Amino acid sequence: MRRPRLIAEQARHASGLLGRFVAFVMAHETFAVNKRAIDGLDVQLNDHILDVGCGPGRGLAVLAARASKGRVVGADPSALMTEIAVERNQGLVKAHRVDVVIARADALPFADNAFDKALCVHVVYFWENLDASLQEIARVLKPGGRFALVFRTNADEAAVRSFPSEVYRFRCIPEVIAALTESGFAIDITDDDGTEPMLMIASKHGRSRGVS
Ligand SMILES: C[S@@+](CC[C@H](N)C(=O)[O-])C[C@H]1O[C@@H](n2cnc3c(N)ncnc32)[C@H](O)[C@@H]1O
Repeated sequence: MRRPRLIAEQARHASGLLGRFVAFVMAHETFAVNKRAIDGLDVQLNDHILDVGCGPGRGLAVLAARASKGRVVGADPSALMTEIAVERNQGLVKAHRVDVVIARADALPFADNAFDKALCVHVVYFWENLDASLQEIARVLKPGGRFALVFRTNADEAAVRSFPSEVYRFRCIPEVIAALTESGFAIDITDDDGTEPMLMIASKHGRSRGVS
């Protein structure tokens, strides 16, 4: 069934009561694929991890449990989504293990090389400029830092039919690979068997700390 434009717009930028409802559904719909992305990151105890477009923030607790001596930050431009993510992770936020900030992928309020890992699940559809967002994610990752990107491609006919094109832009795999490469990433793993949504794991060029 085609999703109404009103609902799709809430997925892009949630607000109000309808936004709360969409966030509730989203937290259930996307959890399995968030876990797939997290598994791909090979999280270490001391990792600092950024979830770009964290939405309702259900993955943040999973990340914090794995990086139990590290720190986890969720970033999302929707004030409502950040509020829900904070509510959901209240204990971890109070313990300063998790932080949630209002920010777009193309303007991240963090220093260069701040994170060991980053993930971004079902967010690329909303980016006006793919390169600007990927370059910004590369900037805040340490050299050798790992990035998990999950998205439905334009080959997913059911998704293309279901989501209004005025809101969702489904990209082709070569376009995303080219943008990642241009932004300073090497592609480590892609689901090249037609699995949807697709998971790409990439590493920022350069040597990771501690590797001789
Ligand atoms: C479909 S939801 C996915 C949320 C979460 N990653 C998940 O898997 O449940 C898309 C999220 O991307 C956020 N978003 C939209 N435009 C964005 C941008 N330019 N940069 C970062 N996040 C964005 C939305 O606010 C929303 O929370």
